[in-house]
Amino acid sequence: MNPERFAVLISGRGSNLKAILDYWDTQDPGSHTQRSTPALVISNRPEAPGLQFARDRGLPHVVVDHTQYPEREHFDDALTTCLEEHDISWVILAGFMRVLGPGFVSRYSGRILNTHPSLLPAFPGRDAMGQALAAGVKISGCTVHRVDGGVDTGPIVAQAAVPVYPDDDDKRLGERIRSAEHHLYPRVIAQVIAEALP
Ligand code: GRF
Repeated sequence: MNPERFAVLISGRGSNLKAILDYWDTQDPGSHTQRSTPALVISNRPEAPGLQFARDRGLPHVVVDHTQYPEREHFDDALTTCLEEHDISWVILAGFMRVLGPGFVSRYSGRILNTHPSLLPAFPGRDAMGQALAAGVKISGCTVHRVDGGVDTGPIVAQAAVPVYPDDDDKRLGERIRSAEHHLYPRVIAQVIAEALP
């Protein structure tokens, strides 16, 4: 496995994927960011709009359609095969809506990152924005964490806070949080991989 190569896994819109690719496009060749490479995009949904960002750049992209794998282990095995074929060491989840099984998580232990749209450990799981609004919090944000066996429970790597306004709805709050993710996530990915390189 090439320690510098990472894959971005998506399921839908792919705005974080775009932010990551844009960030790598703009970094100086000598910067620590350029020590790692976005080398593959995987989507579990054939129609994910975010795949277009890979197509636009001629970046390798593969669909591993979870509906073709009734057993989660088989889906995880298909992902692993695909990652190995592309010589990938790091798995970057960006709106990837499948839970990865223990075998996969242990194989890539410490090398799977996720971004979640809340300040964990508050509001894990689905509908983080709805949970934040229902709780009436005045600050929310995003969390980049390493993935462990649980849902949004792994060690926190970085966070960014955003205000929650009285007239917010899911959409407005979601857009504000995503802007924070677009800034934070690429920088954290670059930093974490650079630190792990020999
Ligand atoms: C992001 O808000 C991320 O935190 C969550 O799903 C959303 C994905 O958005 N896990 P996008 O597909 O990157 O636009």
